[in-house]
Amino acid sequence: MMERTFVMLKPDAVQRGLMGEILGRIEAKGHRPLAIKFMRIPKELAECHYAEHKGKPFFNGLIEYMTSGPVLVMVWEGENAIASMRAMMGATNPQNAAMGTIRGDLAQQTGRNLIHGSDGPESAKREIELFFNDYEILSWKRTSDPWFLE
Ligand code: RTP
Ligand code: MG
Repeated sequence: MMERTFVMLKPDAVQRGLMGEILGRIEAKGHRPLAIKFMRIPKELAECHYAEHKGKPFFNGLIEYMTSGPVLVMVWEGENAIASMRAMMGATNPQNAAMGTIRGDLAQQTGRNLIHGSDGPESAKREIELFFNDYEILSWKRTSDPWFLE
């Protein structure tokens, strides 16, 4: 099923110069970018994005981390894009993430795990609407699409 998902390269990905490496993996998989924005997240937006974790012991540290520098926020479209993106990211704790995944290959700690991806259709919709206006999201086809899906 064709799906859209929300993806964010967290401040450590930007600071470590890993934007190209990670974007390259998502592109090579065959997903299609519909929106890409480089921004510094205001505290209120970070708190809203991670509202499900409010009150947990790691919440304040998480908000500090997410607002510590620029991030790259994106909408990607593709076949089962939500689950596919989560599989490419690997487990939340990079120590448990399989080799071959972004977190497994490139990260060390849960608190510095490089990337966010929506965990289901409802959160994808909510997160896309939280970060993007309709006019920022492009509908387009790539000439390479038929080489990924017949
Ligand atoms: P994300 O939302 O960022 O894609 O990560 P996730 O679904 O794999 O994990 P989630 O449980 O939603 O946690 C959100 C982010 O909070 C930080 N965290 N720290 N110290 C801790 O125990 C802890 N647990 C979670 C991580 O940055 C995690 O990605
Ligand atoms: Mg999550």
